[in-house]
Amino acid sequence: MGSGGTRLLGIFGDPIAHSLSPVIHNLSCNLLGLDYRYLPFHVVPERLSSALQSFRNLGGVGFNATIPHKEALLPLMDELTPAARRIGAVNTVICQERLIGHNTDAHGFLAALQDVRPDLPDGHHVLVLGAGGAARSVVSALLDTGCQTLILANRTLSRAEALAQFFAPHDPGHRIQPMSLDVDRLPWETITLLVNTTSLGIHGEASLPVAWHRLPDDAFVYDIVYGPRGTPLTRLALSYHRQTMDGLDMLIHQAAAAFTLWTNHEMPVAMVRSFLSRSRDGHTLDG
Ligand SMILES: NC(=O)c1ccc[n+]([C@@H]2O[C@H](COP(=O)([O-])OP(=O)(O)OC[C@H]3O[C@@H](n4cnc5c(N)ncnc54)[C@H](OP(=O)(O)O)[C@@H]3O)[C@@H](O)[C@H]2O)c1
Repeated sequence: MGSGGTRLLGIFGDPIAHSLSPVIHNLSCNLLGLDYRYLPFHVVPERLSSALQSFRNLGGVGFNATIPHKEALLPLMDELTPAARRIGAVNTVICQERLIGHNTDAHGFLAALQDVRPDLPDGHHVLVLGAGGAARSVVSALLDTGCQTLILANRTLSRAEALAQFFAPHDPGHRIQPMSLDVDRLPWETITLLVNTTSLGIHGEASLPVAWHRLPDDAFVYDIVYGPRGTPLTRLALSYHRQTMDGLDMLIHQAAAAFTLWTNHEMPVAMVRSFLSRSRDGHTLDG
């Protein structure tokens, strides 16, 4: 119900109605007996700054940001964590006397992968499909690992090139190779970790073409998109006998990191995961 002492958390996005984050955070607070409420706020881009001010005026503790606000929040922060600065996007805000912008997506991406395959991605050859906002977090995370090569393939080549240039100061070994999304020209035979960060699949549409007959049998396929019973890509990967995972665990891990920043408590991740696995139909996954 909420009380005079209830503390406010939330998420800003446009659209926002189908976000899973309120379920994740409110369930966690209930399980831990914490008096917080996490609300979804439909914030259109031109109202971002005033929504932020209103949230602060109401005494809000912190909020998540999802499409299309992650980059627009950067200049509105008093302080950025090294991760947010490096990724160039904010997905978690702490409202104290100063506004602190964090990014927990890169952590979420890697923590979820290493839960399932702790051997990845060190020493492996990675192909990242997509060069949008989510790819920024994925590339940032991968650059901190010992992956051998990192091909960044995007429909719009210039966007992949711009991302490679953005990360060049953190890529002294020149591991990032921007390429266009041309299925015939990508070096599938060398790839041992395939990561989809394009938005394809979120509404069940067909995934990008993959040369399955050229991809090694032991290649791992990680789709950061999420859908009921997996995504078109993870279902295809399974039909081609590849090990695979979708983006649900990334979502939970990025949420868990934000939860701890706001509440100083550990999210009961296993219980949240088990609940979501049973009730994930019809929600989006990027926050
Ligand atoms: N699991 C999680 O926690 C998590 C976190 C963040 C995001 N996500 C998911 O990641 C996805 C991408 O999010 P984003 O923020 O990166 O979106 P974005 O910034 O809009 O980028 C979209 C990317 O998809 C590509 N793309 C879109 N339609 C395409 C098509 N028909 N053919 C080929 N490429 C296409 C775009 O290529 P162009 O550059 O050529 O347009 C771009 O690289 C979303 O589905 C989101 O739900 C999941």
